[in-house]
Amino acid sequence: MCGIVGYVGASPALLVLLQGLERLEYRGYDSAGVALLENGKLYVEKKVGKIRELVRSLWGKNLKAVVGIGHTRWATHGEVCELNAHPHTDNRGEFAVVHNGIVENYRELRQEIESAGVSYVSQTDTEAIVHLIALNYEGDLLRTVLKVVKKLRGAYAFAVISTREQSRIVAVKYGSPLVVGIGKEENFVASDIPALLPFTREVIPLNDGEVVDLRPDGVFIYDFEGNLLTKEAMHVPWDIISAEKGGFKHFMLKEIFEQPRTLSDTIRGYISRDMSLPFSLRDYRRVLIIACGTSYHAGLIGKYWIEKHAGVPVEVAYASEVRYANMPVGEQDLVLAISQSGETADTRFSALALKEKGATLLSLVNVMGSALDRESDHTLYTHAGPEIGVAATKTFTAQLAVLYSLAVSQRQDRQKEVENLLKVPHLVEEVLTRAEAVKNLALRYAHSKDFLYLGRYLSYPVALEGALKLKEISYIHAEGYPAGEMKHGPIALIDEKTPTVAIAPADRVYEKILSNVEEVLARKGKVIGVGFEKDERLKSLCDAVIEVPTVEEDLTPFLTTVPLQLFAYYIADYLGLDVDQPRNLAKTVTVE
Ligand code: G6P
Repeated sequence: MCGIVGYVGASPALLVLLQGLERLEYRGYDSAGVALLENGKLYVEKKVGKIRELVRSLWGKNLKAVVGIGHTRWATHGEVCELNAHPHTDNRGEFAVVHNGIVENYRELRQEIESAGVSYVSQTDTEAIVHLIALNYEGDLLRTVLKVVKKLRGAYAFAVISTREQSRIVAVKYGSPLVVGIGKEENFVASDIPALLPFTREVIPLNDGEVVDLRPDGVFIYDFEGNLLTKEAMHVPWDIISAEKGGFKHFMLKEIFEQPRTLSDTIRGYISRDMSLPFSLRDYRRVLIIACGTSYHAGLIGKYWIEKHAGVPVEVAYASEVRYANMPVGEQDLVLAISQSGETADTRFSALALKEKGATLLSLVNVMGSALDRESDHTLYTHAGPEIGVAATKTFTAQLAVLYSLAVSQRQDRQKEVENLLKVPHLVEEVLTRAEAVKNLALRYAHSKDFLYLGRYLSYPVALEGALKLKEISYIHAEGYPAGEMKHGPIALIDEKTPTVAIAPADRVYEKILSNVEEVLARKGKVIGVGFEKDERLKSLCDAVIEVPTVEEDLTPFLTTVPLQLFAYYIADYLGLDVDQPRNLAKTVTVE
């Protein structure tokens, strides 16, 4: 993954790079570095750890360069150390490269490079790029890069600067994200829009197979054949405030609390219209939903809704499992790819492979202009604004809002469903007023080593999502399971020390899940229930109950998910962990 940023202009580049990197830190944060064209020479500084370590080491150095590139790393090739951190430079110190993605054929390239007498010093794939540029340079950086990309295999985005051409950055996109920011007498490039927001809201997202020649007074975009392309800039509606913490201790907490607004923005965007889709789901023999992580859980809930309201069979698959499977897919299939970022490599590449087989590709993304957005036949958007916390929260419930709107849009008579959906933002607000009670409960259980999350029907994906949130940010082992399946194996895990979170709203499977709760109690397990308020039966069984307002069965996931987000958050915060940037994770995973 990693995040890259570049600046050419008249202001000190370092300030722009560091601000940009801080906003990209969610993409990776094991080491960071910058390269600047300082007094005609390359100045490179790299540090292991977060951006603040880099900032510390640059403190007080009066660097005036007006051109530079920066990088925050999530290691793919080579351990986390200064040598492997980016930027990478050639042996003569004339070129510097920052890179996001994987160069799959770097071993062969390395041999070629070493046999040309160049010493290869790191364990990274990136270093191959910078040596190839140095070896092939004939006086024009753009032309050299166009030559080098022909040799690279894999998915990547990179940016290069050179002492030979002082007012220029050349950057490439092929598989990993890259966005150009347009300023006045200054221009920018970055992996993602939030890095550009302090400086500009006019952006041009690049497509795969494009190269940008970035100069202070102009931006020129070419295809890999060197043809100049004409591309319009788009205006980003988000402002910098929506990408700031706004008084909350963590982005994750802020984003959890934003849900009433993000839900209402998303619902309002869809409810009055018929999704603006030029087709009906019933035109297809099936809907195939592909996604990863939290987006996959939204897809599982969407399946129940679409099958109920549209009567179309829905299959949900992990995107990473679809690409290399022999799934029979053709023109009668609608593929719905769900991805917050619209950049997840597994989701994108599987979606493209299925589109290639003839399926119609509909995507559901939060980032307008993202690769998946541009590659799809049709796109639906969640209007959740930028999500910075690595663990997805507000974008999950916004995805649910779009999926529910999509499902009910297929009904002739949907007035009741629409009215109910419109009440959801307010009900979520009510759930959030009980955050303190969830916090107290979280502190009681914060030292447990394992958790089981159980749910049935619509609450089963909620159980998966609740367990994922806990794992991601608190590093506590948690298993989400369909409650009815527990007796076929995981029941062996139950003991006094393993709390079970049972998501048990009074829906069609209420009686069934209460029986499953009894099974846990019979084995001396402790149960935390998540159910409707004033549910005395649930209360009499459970050690504690998190209450949510009573709502139509269909809409329970909106309300039961939110306390589980809070529960995970408060445990992780209590344990003193880095909630927004949990170890080993990255928000946008652009490698397969
Ligand atoms: C990463 C993130 C998860 C996210 C998943 C899918 O693994 O850590 O939080 O759910 O990617 O991301 P997407 O942008 O495709 O929804």
